[in-house]
Amino acid sequence: MQISASILSADMANLTTVVTGLDHAGIDMLHFDVMDGHFVPNITFGMPVLAAIDHCTPLFMDVHLMISDPLRYASQFVKAGADLVTFHLESDSDPKKTICAIHDAGAQAGIVLKPATSWEEAIPYLDQVEVVLVMTVEPGFGGQSFLWDMVAKVEALQDYIQKHGLLCQIEVDGGINVETAPHVLRAGAEILVMGSYLFNQADLRFAVRQIHDEAEKLFLQGTE
Ligand code: DX5
Ligand code: ZN
Repeated sequence: MQISASILSADMANLTTVVTGLDHAGIDMLHFDVMDGHFVPNITFGMPVLAAIDHCTPLFMDVHLMISDPLRYASQFVKAGADLVTFHLESDSDPKKTICAIHDAGAQAGIVLKPATSWEEAIPYLDQVEVVLVMTVEPGFGGQSFLWDMVAKVEALQDYIQKHGLLCQIEVDGGINVETAPHVLRAGAEILVMGSYLFNQADLRFAVRQIHDEAEKLFLQGTE
């Protein structure tokens, strides 16, 4: 299990301090939410901010593109420091071309499914991507409530991945906290994006350890 910390809810005026704190607390990657005000009704940050953050941390950069034309910008995000670029299947770009563009630029690629998109839509791409990201809220804003129906979607995807001997990992994003994490982990999620939950904690290191402990407990139950 890996924790990808979303900086969407972070104090933007102190990003370097925030990122250093997250790194020291033991998170595994940074989740960077790019929104264009067109694909989703919100606007965040782009390549220059990613490059600036990338220069001040050794952390793995997980870039989630919520933009209408990911093919146009994917390689620019890789140049700016992305190690993994995920983009929405519901965007306007051709998925296969976008996956190739990300790989050619030198990063891992992932496809993202909005809550209303069925898991079967991902099937044609699962053997070409490193990650499939299941949105567990409507994309656009941090701090929303977890959509419980998405647990079954993660389960169905994990089942398919295992039956077909595929290597891609399932990432979940939205409303993940200490209560919802065990459910998605049990269903087969391997990368957990956490935003507002982490930033509402007085003791970040303790919160990160608690999620890891939950994952460890589930793993031990599974091996009994
Ligand atoms: C929502 C973003 C998420 C968001 C998650 O569109 O993709 O990454 O930051 O935030 P929380 O953990 O607060 O739901
Ligand atoms: Zn995200």
